[in-house]
Amino acid sequence: MEHNEQIRWRTVRPEEAQMLAPWRKIGGEWMLLTAGDGAGYNTMTASWGHIGSLWGHGGGLPTAIAYVRPQRYTKEFLDRAGLYTLSFFPAEYKKALGYLGSHSGRDGDKVAAAGLTPVFGEGCTWFEEASLVLVCRKLYQAPLVEEGFVDKSIIEECYPHRDYHQMYIGEVVQVLEKG
Ligand SMILES: Cc1cc2nc3c(=O)[nH]c(=O)nc-3n(C[C@H](O)[C@H](O)[C@H](O)COP(=O)(O)O)c2cc1C
Repeated sequence: MEHNEQIRWRTVRPEEAQMLAPWRKIGGEWMLLTAGDGAGYNTMTASWGHIGSLWGHGGGLPTAIAYVRPQRYTKEFLDRAGLYTLSFFPAEYKKALGYLGSHSGRDGDKVAAAGLTPVFGEGCTWFEEASLVLVCRKLYQAPLVEEGFVDKSIIEECYPHRDYHQMYIGEVVQVLEKG
């Protein structure tokens, strides 16, 4: 992880990360889910996700879950990737996140249009303007399935086209904070 060495980014241990207010951070402030590297990447806004502990021994591995609909261009990169990132931004970038969540990378360089600057690490990409980055190693991916919904009203509400999200569980292998 080359950019690790830069003064502007500080690697912190997951359990010391300052971000653990997931409902506000993910659901309220949103994040960018990014896969790919300098040879080609894509990003999208996400406001659905989880941060927690899973597998491993003792307290479990620090993990993050992202949910991606099949039609997202980002999914193509995510499916090929070993690593991906979740980037969180100061409030002034919310408009940029809105843009990246309503335009597809299939149609042009939406990152440049949104005014963000990619930072390329080894096998992953994040953004210069971010305040916090979680680098994730993909551990598990699977689609949500119709039979799994106990509350079937979610199907009608969120999946009228039955385009169930793909769930990606990643180990948080690096936490980068600005500092
Ligand atoms: C606030 C917000 C939150 C979103 N959250 C998700 C999400 O969690 N999962 C998802 O699949 N799409 C989500 N989207 C939609 C994608 O960001 C959007 O379809 C994007 O244009 C996909 O870009 P891509 O085709 O370049 O991958 C969200 C959009 C917005 C505006």
